[in-house]
Amino acid sequence: MKSGMDDVIAAETLLSHVDGEAGRLVIRGHDLEALAGQVGFEQAARLLWDDIVETGDTDLATRIGQGRAVAYAHFAPLSGRLEGLAPIEAMRLFLSAIADESALATPAGLLGATGTAAAMAIRAAAGEPAIVPDPAAGHAVDILRMAAGTQPAPEAARALDAYLVTVIDHGLNASTFAARVVASTRAGWVSAVIAALCALKGPLHGGAPGPVLDMLDAIAESGDIRAWLASELQSGRRLMGFGHRIYRTRDPRADVLKAALRRLGGATARVALAEQVESAALDLLAERKAGRRLDVNVEFYTALLLDAVGLPRAGFTPIFAAGRAAGWLAHAAEQQASGRLIRPRSRYLGPMPDHAA
Ligand code: ACO
Repeated sequence: MKSGMDDVIAAETLLSHVDGEAGRLVIRGHDLEALAGQVGFEQAARLLWDDIVETGDTDLATRIGQGRAVAYAHFAPLSGRLEGLAPIEAMRLFLSAIADESALATPAGLLGATGTAAAMAIRAAAGEPAIVPDPAAGHAVDILRMAAGTQPAPEAARALDAYLVTVIDHGLNASTFAARVVASTRAGWVSAVIAALCALKGPLHGGAPGPVLDMLDAIAESGDIRAWLASELQSGRRLMGFGHRIYRTRDPRADVLKAALRRLGGATARVALAEQVESAALDLLAERKAGRRLDVNVEFYTALLLDAVGLPRAGFTPIFAAGRAAGWLAHAAEQQASGRLIRPRSRYLGPMPDHAA
């Protein structure tokens, strides 16, 4: 028994394949590199959902846009209840207010709603009023406009679009597994998405990119990259943006995001520092964790890309959720179609009642 269920196959899927040895991610028969930066998020979602998620006759992009607009009307009355909540907590609150029987509680509606929830949560945490969605706009450009409060530059919107496609699905990661467990109980789409969001928010999963920027800031302040990293490892702490349960080599998403960051232009001081940190961290991890094969993961360049498009670090995980929601919903649909409740067993290690006494 492995407490982290390492190497356990817990689902069969047509959605995506993570090859940890080769550092390859295949989504519905396409390498990630053929999708991210090549097709828009809505097109990638259509590809992912094809014949798996019921979307009705209307074009998916239209339905996602309508979902953003309907969600805004639904979430706006909650704006007085967000005081003191981090963006990811506000997002959780927004989604929890969707009734299972509401028109929004469809896969396309919820995919739109996660975009609006992420943007509104980011605005609320900054003390700014929410921005009304434009249902006719692309998902990435509209999320960025709603979150930042201004019309984004086309290259920034393209970079965010490439990011949302990059994270759209990734095998049976912790949040996707949570979505499948909840979907298997027939609790419905909304509950599956909320369960996944709660799993995503932890720093060992989707909560890492904000701390990556904190780490880069602390390193910049220290003035000595190698000494700072060595001291973290010496203290038993993990380097944020490095390591992965499945990849034994570079996470392919890191390079896709690095390329998107380059296309965005403006080699900032932070990007230059990040490249030095990456190189020093890989050397140190190879020395100190020899045999473990730790490399850079998706979160390292996520942090730099989302920062470069103008999003605040506390909003990185909500934006991640807006992209990954397409994968969660597709996995929930697959799990529901299988009709099988997920219910593993545990091994009892406690005492038994003493019947002889
Ligand atoms: N920094 C330092 N050491 C690490 C790191 C790291 N980033 N990652 C793993 N290790 C070490 C562990 O301490 C452990 O060492 P030990 O055997 O001496 O105790 C060894 O490598 C094996 O680690 P595991 O815990 O088995 O790795 P696991 O597969 O459970 O962890 C995880 C994967 C959670 C991603 C881990 O690498 C980590 O914590 N990384 C930092 C946080 C992070 O970047 N999270 C985002 C992941 S990507 C995503 O979910 C979207």
